[in-house]
Amino acid sequence: MPAETWWKNGIVYQIYPRSFQDSNGDGVGDLPGITSRLDYLVDLGIDAVWISPIYPSPMADFGYDVSDYCGVHPLFGTLADFDRLVAEVHRRGLKLILDFVPNHTSDQHPWFVESRSSRSNPKRDWYIWRDPRPDGSPPNNWVSNFGGSAWEFDEATGQYYYHAFLRQQPDLNWRNPELREAMYDVLRFWLDRGVDGFRVDVIWHLIKDAEFRDNPPNPAWHPERPEIESLLQVHSSDQEEVHEVIAEMRRVLDGYRDRVLIGEIYLPTERLVAYYGKDLSGAHLPFNFQLIQTAWNARAIAKLVDEYEAALPQGGWPNWVLGNHDQPRIAARVGAEQARVAAMLLLTLRGTPTMYYGDEIGIGRVEIPPDRVQDPWEKNEPGLGFNRDPERTPMQWDASRFAGFSTVEPWLPLAPGHERQNVAVLSADPGSILNLYRALIRLRRGTRALAIGDYQPIRTEGHVFGFLRSHGSERLAVFLNLSGEPIPVKLVSPCDGMRVKLSTFLDRVDERVGSNVALRPNEGLILG
Ligand code: GLC
Repeated sequence: MPAETWWKNGIVYQIYPRSFQDSNGDGVGDLPGITSRLDYLVDLGIDAVWISPIYPSPMADFGYDVSDYCGVHPLFGTLADFDRLVAEVHRRGLKLILDFVPNHTSDQHPWFVESRSSRSNPKRDWYIWRDPRPDGSPPNNWVSNFGGSAWEFDEATGQYYYHAFLRQQPDLNWRNPELREAMYDVLRFWLDRGVDGFRVDVIWHLIKDAEFRDNPPNPAWHPERPEIESLLQVHSSDQEEVHEVIAEMRRVLDGYRDRVLIGEIYLPTERLVAYYGKDLSGAHLPFNFQLIQTAWNARAIAKLVDEYEAALPQGGWPNWVLGNHDQPRIAARVGAEQARVAAMLLLTLRGTPTMYYGDEIGIGRVEIPPDRVQDPWEKNEPGLGFNRDPERTPMQWDASRFAGFSTVEPWLPLAPGHERQNVAVLSADPGSILNLYRALIRLRRGTRALAIGDYQPIRTEGHVFGFLRSHGSERLAVFLNLSGEPIPVKLVSPCDGMRVKLSTFLDRVDERVGSNVALRPNEGLILG
């Protein structure tokens, strides 16, 4: 695929390092494990690997509580293992994206240890410290994303510190210029080691209201929903000044060749697109989670794709995500049949797709027995249905006892049915979801219309979503049946007379369609 930026025409693959491959028999995945599986990723056809945090951490939030930004947690290996991973990734022509967690550190980070030691410590202002209200209560009503007040009282210095997540994850103060510089040095540390970019954790949280005003109540909230949703987050996140910070980060990356800045942002489309920044000075790819949040039906998806395409700033490149380590797996949400339609959707829409490890083998629902719950959010707010453990279970490589992931019982249980549903078994099954992913990726890589072409909706009704992708004279049409019913689709120019390039059932190849095509239940077709 000639001369387009890799993060535009490439496919990103997210690895949750605890769960990809254990190489040392402790039941937890690690860096040498990832390195040993790179050929699988080459064979799958992806272009870039994003790994969730691998830094030293007390693991209160499984690595999103960083205690040293410039190291590797011994569970995952060493810096030498990391360098080897970078070299092996690059040797195969792949890219490596790290997770950067700038909003908060661990409470064990030396910066926070210093900051909390006294009110006059030079690092006091690197975190967010506020006096109690006159009655001793927290400075305002902000709630932690994992439930409870977002403020923790520190007896020793008589002030509260702010934590948007766990109390073991104090928020950094991004209004402090020294802190900013220290964090840009962290970016340079990894860029100098050869990483190709960053996925920036909760980037829309970095700047908070300068006056720390109370958040207004959310009238639509009810108690079966997480407590964080009881307030509208108007003052605690998504502040105008955050764009200045992101532009600074971006300038650090722009000092190197061909690096990518991806931002984690859960906001409605019209707010999300602001994260491309003024004159595209912000994130290259503000993660677009709309497919995760939408009702799974053709009309809702058609509408959101149109709205997103229309909202993109001039020159802003789109992207799509179906799942990640915080969200129910796609196959758990929409079922095994629709998971194949979802795969075709992800890999044919205009924009960079991010795949989540294990979705390509269709890992679905997993029950986590109460005594094996790991997720701190589930421990804080049990039973609401937000446990993130089910989407973090180990990768399933083969039919052996621990699925080829480890030689011992893994840190989270394996999904049921892993003896049948694994890379080895599914590779040998020509009709498997894994082979569908491979075929989709191959087609996308070999077709400029799919990789970088224009998008145009095709007017469809009911349960069918259709669109056209085109580049020069190359044209492909995609029709997805989002239902379990057979549906005949009437085709008009330029789709009539096309041939089937790919069906989600991996048959029908080269079948010529006339002015009608019959979509089978849960079938997606690419015509060209
Ligand atoms: C992000 C991460 C999530 C983590 C949170 C706090 O949303 O994806 O896993 O718990 O930030 O760092």
